[in-house]
Parts: sequence; structure tokens; C-alpha cells
Amino acid sequence: MSFSQKYHQLPTFDKHAGEHGSLQRKVPRKRRSPFLVIAIIMLLGVSIPCIRMARSRALLSACHGPQRNSSTLANLPSHYTLPSGDKIPSVALGVWQASQGEVGNAVKTALSTGYRHIDGAWIYRNEEEVGQALKASSVPREELWLTSKLWNTFHAPEDIEAALDQSLTKLGTDYLDLYLIHWPVAFKEGTTVLDEDLTADPYPTWQKLEELVDKGKIRNIGISNFNIRRIQNLTANNLKYQPAVNQVELNFWNPQPELLQWSKENGLLLEAYSPLGSDKQVGKSLSVPEVKDIACKLGITPAQVIISWSVQRGTIVLPKSVTPSRIAENLAVFELPQEDFERLETAATSHPPQRVVNPSAGWKLPFDVFDGQ
Ligand code: A2P
Repeated sequence: MSFSQKYHQLPTFDKHAGEHGSLQRKVPRKRRSPFLVIAIIMLLGVSIPCIRMARSRALLSACHGPQRNSSTLANLPSHYTLPSGDKIPSVALGVWQASQGEVGNAVKTALSTGYRHIDGAWIYRNEEEVGQALKASSVPREELWLTSKLWNTFHAPEDIEAALDQSLTKLGTDYLDLYLIHWPVAFKEGTTVLDEDLTADPYPTWQKLEELVDKGKIRNIGISNFNIRRIQNLTANNLKYQPAVNQVELNFWNPQPELLQWSKENGLLLEAYSPLGSDKQVGKSLSVPEVKDIACKLGITPAQVIISWSVQRGTIVLPKSVTPSRIAENLAVFELPQEDFERLETAATSHPPQRVVNPSAGWKLPFDVFDGQ
């Protein structure tokens, strides 16, 4: 078996044993006092049941009251319709931070579990492995929804089609269902230095993407990480195709109710990335009292509560997982009873917003990418 450079195979045997012909210890074992052994056994005898009891008490207290059977809950929409008429699945497998060596299996598991929507990007550096997994699956291309994103270094008009072609080749397809401008930020070629000319106005990039739609290489185009002002700057132009979606961070900690409301009023669908709060906050998200309470009451998991809430808010949701059981769990969304939905919405929008993802400082931008210049 070969391992990626990151992992080293641990020895499963003493590599010197063969040389010395024996696995026996060379240093004689010290004799332990029988009193110490008895004391350890007694301590274990008392503490194990205590730990078990405490654990079941914690579970019981988390799940007091009548529990509903999730099979009695209504389903949420499985698709949304975009301005092009295409139907996009409401739950995708997100592959940001799904590392090479893991992402292929995650995609295969997702497809066999019923996912048909994979949300990726050039910069995730895993499109090749995603493409191999797609090829290995028997799902016909027309049943799949593939999204990728134009990275910040490729906004120069002559670079855009070449960047798209790279993603197409790696994914092993001749068209994408959705291609997004990853950030409203352009870097000078091959650097992370801001290209202010291209950042100031995303319209030239958009026009190029429109051409690629007409060429048949992309079916829908959209934006990502755009705030309302930036969307308005873009759409003030005479666009041939309106943005189909805006992919932004949306989760319990950063629910962005104003952006959601504005987007609904303006017919722009939002896609929720890091819906569980990403690696950094997932534990905290799943421990929110309201989330746990609703999960217990409805007989579903805390992750399902949050993912269901995201779809019920009218957004597409892109949970990332490389764990087979979680991948399956995350696809099962249920309509939360109105009182539970409102309880969670109120809890999410009642604390100061906190983003997990803001690369402005890391990229040394002279502005906050979410607030503007
Ligand atoms: P893993 O990939 O190891 O399964 P987000 O979608 O907000 O970016 O969150 C991704 C993080 O949440 C990852 O650490 C992922 O772990 C974890 N995760 C995904 N689904 C679940 C789940 N159903 N229960 C618990 N953790 C989950």
C-alpha cells in the first residue's frame, strides 16, 4: 500500500525482531505489588459504571421529552430552478479541505449514497482525483451537477478560458453545470498581489464567462463571496446572463439574514459554504443547545438539523465530509416544524456575526473583502 508523503506507515512489528530472532523482552519485567493491582481493579470497577451513567444521563437530559420519528417529517425541496431553467440539487458534497487521497473515496461514497451535486474549485487542488472518482462511478454525466470556480490569478481575459479548460480536463468533462468567480478579487499573474484594475470591475471577467456559456463550456455562471454592493456594481452593467447563484459562508455563526433577504427579493439564489462552521467550528455548531434540543425532539442528528435549516432558509447547502456515515447523514434533510425553524433562526441571528472564512488579512488586501474598498 502506498501512502501520501504526509503519512508514514507505522511499524506493525519490531523491525529488529527478525535480526534478533525473537520478540521477547530483553529487560526482565518488574514485579508489581498485588495490593496495587487490587487497588487498580477496584478503582476501575467503581469508575466505569460511573462514566457510563454520567454519559447516559447527559444523553437523557439532552433528549428529554417525547421524541418524534424522523419518518413523519416532510421532505424539503431536492432541487431549485435557476434562471436558465436548469435544476440544481439543493444538497451538494463540498470538497473544499477534502485532501488528496481522501476526496476520491468521499465522492464515490457520495454518488453511491445518492448525491448528484459536487461543489469544487480549481484552487482546492483535488479536481483530478474528483474527476477519477466521477469516471469510476456509473452515474451518467447528464445526471451530475458539477461546479467549479475561477481562481483569483486567472482574471486576465486571456487566462479565463485556459483556467476553465484545466478544470474541465481534470474533472474529465467537456462542460460545467456552474462556474463561479471565486472571489471579487483579482491577483497579478502567479502572485497573491492584488491587481487593482481587475478587482475594481469584475464586468470584463463576467463578459468572458458569458462567452464561455455561449460556447457551451459552461451551463450557468455565478459569483462567490460577493456582498450586496459588489453584486449591484456587477449587475448595473448590461449583463447577457444574470448571476445564477452567489456562494457565500452561511452557518449558525454567520447566518447573514440581510444578504439572504436581499437575495430573495432580487431573485438570486445563495449557496451556503461551511454550513457546519467548517473544521474549526463544527464541534461548537453541533453543540448549540437549540440545535441539540431540536435534534432530540425530531429524532435526527444535530448536523441534519443545521443542514435542513439551511435548505429551509431557501439556500443550497454544501456540507463537506470525507466520512462515509456523515456523507450519508448529511444528504437526509427534513422540513423542521415552523416553531423549530424559527427558534433556530432566532438563535442564529441573535448573536454578533462571526465569520470562519475571511482571507483579507492573509492576502494583505488594503480592505476587508466583505466590506468593500
Ligand atoms: P469530516 O470531513 O472529517 O467528516 P463544513 O461543511 O461546515 O465545512 O464542515 C466540515 C467539517 O464538519 C469537517 O470537519 C467534517 O468532518 C465535519 N462534518 C461533516 N459532516 C458531519 C456530521 N454529520 N457530523 C459531524 N461532523 C461532520
